[in-house]
Amino acid sequence: MEVKTSLLDNMIGVGDMVLLEPLTEDSFLDNLRNRFDHSEIYTYIGSVVISMNPYRSLPIFTPDKVEEYRNRNFYELSPHIYALADEAYRSLRDQDKDQCILITGESGAGKTEASKLVMSYVAAVCGKGQEVNKVKEQLLQSNPVLEAFGNAKTVRNDNSSRFGKYMDIEFDFKGDPLGGVISNYLLEKSRVVKQPRGERNFHIFYQLLSGASDDTLKKLKLDRDFSKYNYLSLDSAAVNGLDDAANFRTVRNAMQIVGFMEDEVQSVLELVAAVLKLGNIEFKPESRCNGTDESRIKDKNDLKEMCELLGIEQSVLERAFSYRTVEAKLEKVSTTLNVAQAYYARDALAKNLYSRLFSWLVTRINESIKAQTKARHKVMGVLDIYGFEIFEDNSFEQFIINYCNEKLQQIFIELTLREEQEEYVREGIEWTNIEYFNNAIICDLIENNQNGILAMLDEECLRPGTVSDETFLDKLNTICAEHQHFESRLSKNSKFLNDHSLPHSCFRIQHYAGKVLYRTEGFVDKNNDLLYRDLSQAMYKATQSLIKQLFPEGNPAKVNLKRPPTAGSQFKASVGTLMKNLQTKNPNYIRCIKPNDKKAPHIFTDSLVRHQVRYLGLMENVRVRRAGYAFRQPYEPCLERYKMESKRTWPHWKGPAREGVEVLMADLQVPTEEYAYGRSKIFIRNPRTLFFLEERRKQCLEDLATLIQKIYRGWKCRSHFLLLKESQIVVAAWYRRYAQQKKYKQIKSATTVVQSYTRGWQARKLLRELKYQKRCEEAVTTIAAFWHGTQVRREYRKFFRANAGKKIYDFTIQRIMQKYFLGLKNTVPSMSPIDKNWPSRPYLFLDGAHTELRRIFHLWRCKKYRSQFTEEKKAIYEEKLEASEIFKDKKTLYPSSVSQPFKGDYLEISKNPKYQKLNSTVDEKVLLADVVNKINRANGKGTPRIFLLTKKSVVLADQKTGQVKASVPLPDLSSVSVSTQNDGFFALKLKEGSASATKGDFLLSSEHLIEIITKLHRTGATAADREELNIDISDEFLVQFKQDKVCVKFIQAALKNGNSVSCKRKNNRLLEVSVPVMA
Ligand SMILES: Nc1ncnc2c1ncn2[C@@H]1O[C@H](COP(=O)(O)OP(=O)(O)OP(=O)(O)O)[C@@H](O)[C@H]1O
Ligand SMILES: [Mg+2]
Repeated sequence: MEVKTSLLDNMIGVGDMVLLEPLTEDSFLDNLRNRFDHSEIYTYIGSVVISMNPYRSLPIFTPDKVEEYRNRNFYELSPHIYALADEAYRSLRDQDKDQCILITGESGAGKTEASKLVMSYVAAVCGKGQEVNKVKEQLLQSNPVLEAFGNAKTVRNDNSSRFGKYMDIEFDFKGDPLGGVISNYLLEKSRVVKQPRGERNFHIFYQLLSGASDDTLKKLKLDRDFSKYNYLSLDSAAVNGLDDAANFRTVRNAMQIVGFMEDEVQSVLELVAAVLKLGNIEFKPESRCNGTDESRIKDKNDLKEMCELLGIEQSVLERAFSYRTVEAKLEKVSTTLNVAQAYYARDALAKNLYSRLFSWLVTRINESIKAQTKARHKVMGVLDIYGFEIFEDNSFEQFIINYCNEKLQQIFIELTLREEQEEYVREGIEWTNIEYFNNAIICDLIENNQNGILAMLDEECLRPGTVSDETFLDKLNTICAEHQHFESRLSKNSKFLNDHSLPHSCFRIQHYAGKVLYRTEGFVDKNNDLLYRDLSQAMYKATQSLIKQLFPEGNPAKVNLKRPPTAGSQFKASVGTLMKNLQTKNPNYIRCIKPNDKKAPHIFTDSLVRHQVRYLGLMENVRVRRAGYAFRQPYEPCLERYKMESKRTWPHWKGPAREGVEVLMADLQVPTEEYAYGRSKIFIRNPRTLFFLEERRKQCLEDLATLIQKIYRGWKCRSHFLLLKESQIVVAAWYRRYAQQKKYKQIKSATTVVQSYTRGWQARKLLRELKYQKRCEEAVTTIAAFWHGTQVRREYRKFFRANAGKKIYDFTIQRIMQKYFLGLKNTVPSMSPIDKNWPSRPYLFLDGAHTELRRIFHLWRCKKYRSQFTEEKKAIYEEKLEASEIFKDKKTLYPSSVSQPFKGDYLEISKNPKYQKLNSTVDEKVLLADVVNKINRANGKGTPRIFLLTKKSVVLADQKTGQVKASVPLPDLSSVSVSTQNDGFFALKLKEGSASATKGDFLLSSEHLIEIITKLHRTGATAADREELNIDISDEFLVQFKQDKVCVKFIQAALKNGNSVSCKRKNNRLLEVSVPVMA
């Protein structure tokens, strides 16, 4: 079980000054000392945290402590800065209230450390995740970078912030950090060129020289030895407990994490180096002829190196250190600078360079850490501004710093003391006024627009004529002389005329935190913050891009003759904005106190602490808290928050909220002195009462949660039960239906079975009866049939066998015939008339029919064949047929002629022009025209003659001339003789007594013997008026030559003289034709 703790547990002194008894300044200090001695550095005044600087590390900032304070009530644990951070973070996250944490205290009191503790606590307790962690890391790492460039060792603090810083950390609705915005306020740039005794320049110079590698230093043209640089004070260059080299590495690393590019880091370091170099430039006077002194640079080496670093032309910068150009409207006047002015210009440039670099760094960091989303965000602002400062020599910077602290004190007073008291009055709460010092009057002295010190300084700076710090002081003396917080030697208010501690050129202000003597020297210059235009233009000409960016006014294209706003007015404006910003947020205070001036642990310097307690107004703070009420809340939210603690107000209160709260308080029996009813709010005097209410609420919430849980569980169980019940009914209904269905089906099927058995039995019985009946009928029929059959067979037996054989035979024959004819259909031979094939005879008895069928088929196919013939072809075949009838097997020449077609007109007589005349003499159609040999009867030699056959005659004509030698009318021919041999000889025999017979018969030989003879024969046969021509075929025949009859004899001779037939006259009566024997 969680152990309930309280602020009051194990308390050393009192943790909350409100509980201090008796309340005096001494007891207050005793309590602080007591706690400080016991390492309890934090003490509350209500919700304000007083933080004592322990000057040593305490084991109270561990992760365990973070966990311990996480989500705990502010007053639950012993006072801690974590409790305040937690409270602020939770009300930011849960109540959507923007917060600001105001950390005040003098230099070295621990403000910067406190701000870092707050940031680290918030970082530790807010959301986690890769993106969120990166944001956190960047926010945290912005600190070392800014500290290196903006912090320095002072006599009061080894790590004194020389600039004001206000950082807004932005969170999303879940409380995860989204990013941040840093605002910086007035860097103490005079430190760059001069540091008071015992103090150092900004850390970065020492860090760079100690921590950078040899290589880097060489690149930056720097030497590790501090003593080489005029701008670095030597007496306190090394600081105890400060490791510059290690810090340099930390800074470089932090720059990388924040998101600086490597070249940006390089440019930054180059600028730092350039400032150091600038400090080493020295001037010497050189007299000019007009008697004035002009400055010259002593040793140009540093100038050269600096110019090389920044990429500036040396001559340009050199000129800028020697001349000053004043531009007024159209005029441009150049004046030379004397040595003092040159030094002034150099230092102004160094200061500007450095302070602009610092502002650029802040802008650059803001660029990296700015929230990436535009979504609405909540803001926690952390203000760590330079603390109140009283030095031996206080200048413009201290004036500004202290003014800022006045404003912060003012806002503290506004929000805690005055506001609180005014609220009591407003709410009509009985209240005895607590006196406290309101520093509004001091703020007015400084910032009043008409006669405030800053306004007068500005007026002096802008006034024409000679202006100096003295004239400024004079003005102050006249205008502010009456002011009770202003003192100077000449002020009318000067009861201090005899006060020799007040030097001439000084004025003193009675700040809320003490009197501070300001030396006016440098006020005008520092407020003017002028940099000669020649210098800014020279810087603008640099090739290094960063330095160009830092001096935009050096751009000749953008010459602005208007004076820039003064440093004082700028600061006033930014402080004004800051105050407005803070007023919109819920403030949380951390009041830092410095226990001693020695920066040492365990030392508690009474007077020093007493002084701080006084000016911080802590006593008044406690008094107001004690006299007043620790907590207040409007009635509505109060009732809403605590109404569950009374039965009468829970769950709804019908009447006005105030009455509800009254009922609530009465029911809870809270003592009446513990609270008061205001007009719109209830005021609770003691935090304990609040805790009591909270505790009750928590308990009630737990009870309510239990109740809700109980009701919910009951509801859940009941609805589950109802669901089950409903389901059960449905299931049961379904089951019953199913069971009934099943039963019904069973009964139905059983009934069917029984029914079918019964029906079956009945049917079988019927069937049996019917079968029996049928069998009886069949038996009767069979018996009758048998009986009839027997009778019939007996009667008809005699007729049976006689025709059976014939019928079977006829049938068989029919079948065979049918089969034969069908088979023949498939096996008939081709349609060619010469195809001799014919299927074999299947049955002997079909022999006749088979042969006849063959004949018929052959005739039929011949007819078919013939039917394809033309008349012409027919005639040719008739001739061939006739030739066959005449010569077949009678003359050896015949077979060779069968294949030769009978052309008839071999000479193409009608077409050939040579025979035109001959053709015209023969008026008949020429049936045959050929060249034949007419055998000479004297020697048997042949003379070629044209042989023409017409229907009426045979004509012989000369082959060459075509002259008709002989024309024999066909009727004059008696016969034709040919041999049986393979020769072409033939004799045309004339009828005796005919007109042609006078010359005798003709013995001719032709290659176309068969054709000639056939045609002759045909012509004779077709002529109706003539008798058929005789054709005599024998190897010996007689030929009538004129009167002589000569026998022509054909002999077969062996082959001589080639293959030809030869004819020789043997004697008067014999012509011998020798025919070669055919092989
Ligand atoms: N909580 C702490 N624990 C340990 N040391 C601390 C603590 N707070 C401050 N210190 C020490 O005191 C020194 C000064 O603190 P810090 O720089 O925060 O003062 P400051 O109020 O910011 O001063 P300035 O106004 O000059 O910037 C620190 O360097 C550190 O050594
Ligand atoms: Mg600081």
